[in-house]
Amino acid sequence: MPRLAVLGYPVGHSRSPAMHNAALAALGMDAEWSYEAIEVAPEGFEALVRAMPGQGFAGANVTVPHKLLALALADSASETAREIGAANTLIFGPRGIHADNTDAGGLLASLPESPRGRSALVLGAGGAGMAAVWALGAMGARVGIWNRTPARAETVRIEVAERAQQFHVEIEVNVVEPEPEAPVDLDLGGFDLIVNTTAVGLGGEDPFAELPLRRDGFAPGQVVVDMVYSSAPSTLLAAAAECGARTVDGIEILVQQGALSFELWTGRKPPLDVMRAAARA
Ligand code: ATR
Repeated sequence: MPRLAVLGYPVGHSRSPAMHNAALAALGMDAEWSYEAIEVAPEGFEALVRAMPGQGFAGANVTVPHKLLALALADSASETAREIGAANTLIFGPRGIHADNTDAGGLLASLPESPRGRSALVLGAGGAGMAAVWALGAMGARVGIWNRTPARAETVRIEVAERAQQFHVEIEVNVVEPEPEAPVDLDLGGFDLIVNTTAVGLGGEDPFAELPLRRDGFAPGQVVVDMVYSSAPSTLLAAAAECGARTVDGIEILVQQGALSFELWTGRKPPLDVMRAAARA
């Protein structure tokens, strides 16, 4: 009876159990497999993970704030996880704990077209921002990064540049800021892809007050991604759609990263529509 779980702190809001259990049921695997949410504080994370294989777990998803620790404690790791410096997927096997990362693959799979050769703007310099910069940059996009606290954007730029050198990947990344004399908004005209990784919107904040974006600043031909996941379209995506841009929301990215993890654990491709419906319910 292989068990699966998502490990986070907090984790109560996670839609992963509903999404994965729906996929297991749709494939007729639910008599054997199950997926649960386990809340664990950072102090207890390592001991919990090490005990999981003995308790019938085949693998786990790892979410905030455990992604760095998950990579650090693993016996082996995929190239992607090592490059990104974080793991969101653990696989328990005969050779120990293996770490992987499907966040980058999930983001790329959710885009309507490849970011190669395109110009991308990433808003935010937290863990999600770092992962997005790496994923898009490694795929060949030119990446601009903006953050409310510019020093953090600079830290991400430096870290990405160092990693790129270490792993022999060519990545073009710059910090962008509105001109000091000009309006506080960025000119989005030069960007093919705009990705919000900040927490703005989670607590109902107005993205056009908090971020250097104008409500009517988007254009047809652009793809706008909002990692914030909520059931209703975010204020940001609603405005982007009104301007004729194509939009991708956080649930689609959750579904795509989840589907990649599911395949790593079970060797089977899950039905995306079933996962989408469960994640949105
Ligand atoms: P995560 O790892 O999920 O990305 P995080 O490390 O807490 O989370 O980062 C949150 C991001 O949202 C940061 O880029 C943060 O900007 P700061 O570095 O300036 O704190 C951004 N953020 C949060 N609230 C914001 C707001 N009201 N306006 C602009 N950016 C905000």
